[in-house]
Amino acid sequence: MQSKSVYLTRMIPESGLALLTVAGVRVKMNPLARQLRREELLEEAPHHDAIICQFPDAIDRDCLKAAAPKCKVIALCAVGFDNVDLAAARELGIIVTNTPDVLTAATADLTWALLLATARRLGEAERFVRAGAWRGWGMLDFLGADVYGKTLGIIGAGRIGTAVIRRATGFDMQVLYSAGQRKEAAEALGADRVPLAELLRRCDFVSLHVPLTPQTHHLIDEQALARMKRTAILINTARGGVVDQAALVDALREGRIAAAGLDVYDKEPAVPQALLDMDNVVLLPHIGSATDSTRAKMAQIAASNVVAVLRGEEPLNPVPA
Ligand code: GLV
Repeated sequence: MQSKSVYLTRMIPESGLALLTVAGVRVKMNPLARQLRREELLEEAPHHDAIICQFPDAIDRDCLKAAAPKCKVIALCAVGFDNVDLAAARELGIIVTNTPDVLTAATADLTWALLLATARRLGEAERFVRAGAWRGWGMLDFLGADVYGKTLGIIGAGRIGTAVIRRATGFDMQVLYSAGQRKEAAEALGADRVPLAELLRRCDFVSLHVPLTPQTHHLIDEQALARMKRTAILINTARGGVVDQAALVDALREGRIAAAGLDVYDKEPAVPQALLDMDNVVLLPHIGSATDSTRAKMAQIAASNVVAVLRGEEPLNPVPA
């Protein structure tokens, strides 16, 4: 396949590169240690048979049009595909693939870490120690919220949401979930399906696991936040756009909810100064799937999808158009 080339919008783990090399695909890579600007992506897009991209790359209609004469497949190194214009891809005959399943456990682990860190004020406590401010043990210092025995609300009980429910069973939590349809796997773990408004009203922790779509955009808005308990904690490891960030800042500032743990933001990598200034939020830089082995598997899957399509075979993980 020496005549075929793939463009990588960012470096991927070695095992993914090796797979492409063994298949004989020529690899060209963005040499910069940053995401491509729109014009850079548009300039590169027409020259390759395949593109391996990341979720911050805007694979919009213009990009797909530029790529279309030559490009057969856009392989995302991510499970979410809200950055791709799927309708345009379908019209232009470009296959889109993603990397489901392999990142479920890592993302659920990170969600759990963030939930615990937010409940027990780990970010704030660690900053305190690092600042040299610790003068000794105090009975009333850094009192946080209990996690065990509390009520957890999972919005979107798909693969990752269900994996988070599984982790909650070890903490004796009551779990409520909201989803468009009944989820047997979630219910087998003891979770009960309730309407969103009820979930928001009853839960001590609310964790978001829906994809970003026009229907879920700002699902957690001012009204949704107003339904939550004043002691509730919101966790978002899904997509920033699911939450109205300005409304969240107001709710946190006015004490209408207690705290938030965020791995994702509206306009990454920008994080509003108001959030940076708050001690009751734990802020992570979108690292849900960031473990060595998970990222290696994601790269291998993206590369395998490219190789399959360029060989004229069915892709392993086509995104439903
Ligand atoms: C990361 O956010 C992903 O969708 O894989």
